[in-house]
Amino acid sequence: MGRSRLWTLPRLGAGRSNFPTPQVWARKLLPIPWRLCVPGRCVSSNFKAADLQVQVTREPQKKPAPSQPLLFGKTFTDHMLMVEWNSKTGWGPPRIQPFQNLTLHPACSGLHYSLQLFEGLKAYKGRDKQVRLFRPWLNMDRMLRSARRLCLPDFDKQELLECIRQLIEVDKDWVPDGNGTSLYVRPVLIGNEPSLGVGMVTQALLFVILCPVGSYFPGDSMTPVSLLADPSFVRAWIGGVGDCKLGGNYGPTVAVQQEAQKKGCEQVLWLYGPDHQLTEVGTMNIFVYWTHEDGELELATPPLDGIILPGVVRQSLLDLARTWGEFRVAERKVTMKELKRALEEGRVREVFGSGTACQVCPVHQILYEGKQLHIPTMENGPELILRFQKELKAIQYGTSAHDWMLRV
Ligand SMILES: Cc1ncc(COP(=O)(O)O)c(C=O)c1O
Repeated sequence: MGRSRLWTLPRLGAGRSNFPTPQVWARKLLPIPWRLCVPGRCVSSNFKAADLQVQVTREPQKKPAPSQPLLFGKTFTDHMLMVEWNSKTGWGPPRIQPFQNLTLHPACSGLHYSLQLFEGLKAYKGRDKQVRLFRPWLNMDRMLRSARRLCLPDFDKQELLECIRQLIEVDKDWVPDGNGTSLYVRPVLIGNEPSLGVGMVTQALLFVILCPVGSYFPGDSMTPVSLLADPSFVRAWIGGVGDCKLGGNYGPTVAVQQEAQKKGCEQVLWLYGPDHQLTEVGTMNIFVYWTHEDGELELATPPLDGIILPGVVRQSLLDLARTWGEFRVAERKVTMKELKRALEEGRVREVFGSGTACQVCPVHQILYEGKQLHIPTMENGPELILRFQKELKAIQYGTSAHDWMLRV
């Protein structure tokens, strides 16, 4: 997908006349809460990358040795991006500053009412030592959508992306270059209202932190995961916020993940509705590669109907598979009944999750209604998973030039 097409949402923040028409919004965003959001959003000047203030640390930390395993989210770089907003003066100038703790009022609304959202994307260092971000425009789109859902202030996506690019440039020596390694980028936006009422915030903080991360699968081997599919746990629902990346969607999943582990499963397969639709795997989108009951070879993933997070990797797999044009690519519901029948009839080739952390993660077992369903993903190569991994790697590490990548 070309970069220009990704920036099609209207830019907000200059004034009320720029508010989008309702049809811009996801179907599941109810019109009433949205209208309630409008008055307080008038003062949301955009911050500009041209105003970036850079304060370089005087105490740079020791970078991890290339041989040291990098656990996800445990190591942070020397700098962070910080931008403050208030309803009177709008956005302040963006700052790149030494990595540091935040000082928050104990009533901070981000802590009390989950007025909080985040993003996750990766930068990769290629063999040419060039650092590139993978499809960051999609993350900026999603972040702005999440911000609007919480009535947090708008920002200009392109300006934020340029600030992130410059932050990575400052910390580029932290980007690892081993096989499968990358720099994880975590933008966060929180309401910072210092009072206990639930309502529109008059203060907010946007910050971005960076973590060098190792390969998800050690070596080149791929480890499949087992899933607990228990319909009594629901991650997201129609009319809810499962399609936004809000912190509030994640905290309550920890107990369910624990439940899965107690039952000997590694992750949760989130089901939805009386027909037990497959929706997501842990914090990944789900794909089924099978021969559909109509006899056609198909790659299927649930549609973006409001309960699915529009994953960047999900979109990328769909885009790649559609470019190949070798089998049907469908965004449609898949139920446990359909999956069970397909397993019994030997039609399932691969089941996998997709997400920024692992890219593509095979599934080999599902515990459902007290029975272990074996998924023959690994026995089937897994041909499609390996092909996706290979193509994504070539794009991300710059072996083949691609307009999905933004040079830092
Ligand atoms: C619930 C959920 N689904 C899917 C994904 C995958 O999204 P992406 O491909 O953008 O990483 C994530 C990623 O964090 C997630 O939290």
